[in-house]
Order: sequence, then structure tokens, then C-alpha cells
Amino acid sequence: VLKRVAHIGIAVKSINEAVRLFCNILGLKLKETQRIEELGLNIAFLKLGDVDIELLESVRNDTPIAKFIEKRGEGIHHICIEVDDIEKTISNLSQAGIELIDKEPRIGTHKEKIAFINPKSTGGVLIELEEAEK
Ligand code: CO
Repeated sequence: VLKRVAHIGIAVKSINEAVRLFCNILGLKLKETQRIEELGLNIAFLKLGDVDIELLESVRNDTPIAKFIEKRGEGIHHICIEVDDIEKTISNLSQAGIELIDKEPRIGTHKEKIAFINPKSTGGVLIELEEAEK
């Protein structure tokens, strides 16, 4: 069961500029910033009511985010939806013929279980599933 939108991921060229826009001008609150060396990413989470905005900046030119920006420009990269039981969701989706990028959940930046659905199966929208904290 899909519960709610947890966050919206936005690919940006400059996280500093994006934070300036979203926080200083639009008034969102910066929750945290993180550099994830193994993914080649700087990320920032901003609070917008019950939904977070996740800004994603690539620090190398060979990451999926860098390739996304090269192909499509800056913009919405993925929507993250919270689920109760990620293993069950993955197996239900697979049975329904939905292709998953992660056939097994992996551990996200907040130690939560996540899995991405292949956008080919969802009308071009990259969806991240995230298991709710118990
Ligand atoms: Co995300």
C-alpha cells in the first residue's frame, strides 16, 4: 500500500544556488545536507510541510544525476513514496509486471529501506519506494 509522498527529488547543477532559492527566497527550512562519496552526490533535504524536497547535485560527471541533467536539464528527478512493507510492495509490483531497478531493497541515506521502480514501467516517472520507520 502506498501511503504518502515522502519527498520529491530535484536534480540541480548547484546545490548552493538551489538552497538559496528554496530557503532564502521561498522560505523552506534546511533539514540537513550530506555528501555521499560513493554515489558522487551532495544532497540536501528541505522541509515543505509533510513532504521533503531532496536536492541532488552531482560532484562527478559520470553519476546518474549528472547524466540526467545532461539529457533533460535540471528538474524533478524522482518522487519518493512511503510504503509499509517494502518487500511485499516489490513482490506485488513484480507480479503485476512492473519492472524494478532494485529487485531487493537497499539501504538509503537515512538507513531506511528503499527501492526504485524502472520509469519505463511508470510512464517515465522515476519512483522511489521507502519503507516507513517502524
Ligand atoms: Co530520494
